[in-house]
Amino acid sequence: MNTVLRPPKILDEEITWDKSQVIVSKTDLFGTILYANDAFSNTSEYSKLEIVGEPHNVIRHPDMPKVIFKVLWQHLKEGKNFHAIIKNLTKSGRYYWVITDFTIDTNDAGEIAGYTARRKAVPESVVTKIAPLYKTLLEIEQQKNEKASELYFNAYLKEETGKNYNDFILHLFNEELKKQETIEETPKEKNTVLQKGLNWFFHGTFEV
Ligand SMILES: Cc1cc2nc3c(=O)[nH]c(=O)nc-3n(C[C@H](O)[C@H](O)[C@H](O)COP(=O)(O)O)c2cc1C
Repeated sequence: MNTVLRPPKILDEEITWDKSQVIVSKTDLFGTILYANDAFSNTSEYSKLEIVGEPHNVIRHPDMPKVIFKVLWQHLKEGKNFHAIIKNLTKSGRYYWVITDFTIDTNDAGEIAGYTARRKAVPESVVTKIAPLYKTLLEIEQQKNEKASELYFNAYLKEETGKNYNDFILHLFNEELKKQETIEETPKEKNTVLQKGLNWFFHGTFEV
């Protein structure tokens, strides 16, 4: 981790940002940032010059449990797309919550050449559901170990959601979409929006 770029202290304060934006970054196979869009710079408070060529963990927030990134990398290395809810750290030590859609970039030979992450703001109701889980996982990692955190995470998903993490995240967003769909819409229209799921979320508008 590039400690020079890390903030001198962590502030328990959300950064003010334009939540209609999609924050994009692209990395190589090892998570080194190759590209970041304007929204990435504006939100993270790092200029493109500062961030390009750095490992992505430069914006890792200390409240994030390790197990989430372990599952993320397991998926990416197997060539599987993934969704995660992530609390990120800004240059001044503030935070922002995002839902991140990770996709695989392939070369002409069809091999994995890198990864792209597209992020959008997370509705407060989703943060309220996920933050207590992350807090527990982090405490287990700090007071026990990573293995115990992973076992708890898997048992939590099985017992409390009946889904894997990726599907759990999609479910949380579909629940939110259901709430946000206005009553004026016909049931048919509602179903279409639900089927569109996160795709719609990333390209449509969403109240946060
Ligand atoms: C395309 C891509 C985007 C990523 N975006 C983030 C991010 O926004 N925030 C983050 O903390 N980690 C992100 N990561 C994961 C980091 O590479 C890293 O695994 C994570 O910050 C945990 O740091 P550590 O592996 O040093 O424990 C991303 C990885 C990839 C491949």
